[in-house]
Amino acid sequence: MNQFDTIHRIEHNFAKSNPNYLKDMFGTTDVMPLWIADMDFEIAKPIQEALQKLVTRNVYAYEFNTGDVFKAISDWNLKRHQLKLNPKSFVQVSGVLTGIGVLIRELSDESEGILVQTPVYHQFFKVIESAGRKVVSNKLKVVDGQYQMDFEDIEHKLKKLNIKAILLCNPHNPIGRVWTKEELQKLVHLANEYDVTIISDEIHSDIVYSGSRFNSIASLENNQNHIAVLGSPAKTFGMQSISNGYLYVPNQDTLNLIKHIIGSLYLDHGSIHSANATIAAYTKGEEWLDNLLEYLEKTMYWIENFVQNELPEVTLFKPEGTYQVWLDFSKLNISDAALKHLVVNQAKLALTPGDWFEGLHTQFMRMNVASPLSKIQQAFHQLKKALDEGVNCSYNDEESSNECCSC
Ligand SMILES: Cc1ncc(COP(=O)(O)O)c(C=O)c1O
Repeated sequence: MNQFDTIHRIEHNFAKSNPNYLKDMFGTTDVMPLWIADMDFEIAKPIQEALQKLVTRNVYAYEFNTGDVFKAISDWNLKRHQLKLNPKSFVQVSGVLTGIGVLIRELSDESEGILVQTPVYHQFFKVIESAGRKVVSNKLKVVDGQYQMDFEDIEHKLKKLNIKAILLCNPHNPIGRVWTKEELQKLVHLANEYDVTIISDEIHSDIVYSGSRFNSIASLENNQNHIAVLGSPAKTFGMQSISNGYLYVPNQDTLNLIKHIIGSLYLDHGSIHSANATIAAYTKGEEWLDNLLEYLEKTMYWIENFVQNELPEVTLFKPEGTYQVWLDFSKLNISDAALKHLVVNQAKLALTPGDWFEGLHTQFMRMNVASPLSKIQQAFHQLKKALDEGVNCSYNDEESSNECCSC
């Protein structure tokens, strides 16, 4: 049996299965939680061992080893992505979103614009708006069934609006695109021309499937003054809640500015648990990750076949990266409320509603598939059963004033 086939106990304290969260968001606790982007898998042994070593200690003291953490991150990027990073250009932050929040505040003034490519990770809206900046939405286009950047619209907005940064998501959550070198090069060209910074959230960089290649914005030429990169081992190694994030800023002036503000808030070092777990992950976790990617790739293949053969009314955007799948239900031709009822109450699935990622996507849902394949198969069979039955008669669709939609 594959190590990733094991079904582990899901703690009630986990956000994804916390009854209060489920009740709040889905109106019921009787759902399989596949909404939040974390994993149901056992973490790599070297990470467990690093943490176990720490809990058997009798004495703890101030202990800062960000230097070793940055070296581990640099070595990993060189080996994994052929990306040469200067260990001196990193800053530690508690999480990626903290880093984005700080960058936005330092690189722009209140009411200035930050461009995002929608649909996109919902916390981007909060991190921009809570800093008093303006979200400028640049919609991704679907061309031949695949999402693409709309460069014309980006240029138009950079020209007309007071935009200070582009908040890039690469690989892109929720649509799963891994941006190509050509796409990124065009973006860098525009950033240079209009003097805006690309803040590149690369937290999903290690979850990339065969046929695609991850390119960091830091790997492109002629960009060192207009970029900042954010990363973390959280998504790669299932270390949500035990890892910190990091910022990588090649421009020395910007780096000094960021170091100063992060340092003055004493946010520049994590706990020793996070540091040692991160070092263990990046120095000894590669084999585990390769096995994980192989497993996820098989899961994606199964999903693609199932959707194609059994769910013709659902459109799947097969991801090039990330362990999220983006599903379009619009061909069902039912109201938003009926779709929600079908998925939550009939299929008993807690998926992330598409409108979290941009208001218009009410007929989309994101499913997190970093779970044993048997569980994902069960979820899709539940979905198929619900779709085959149609919206059931107990449902009262106020939105379309259609009392009983399918009978
Ligand atoms: C694109 C992206 N950025 C950031 C985060 C969260 O990162 P952190 O918990 O380190 O702030 C997530 C989590 O889902 C994400 O998908």
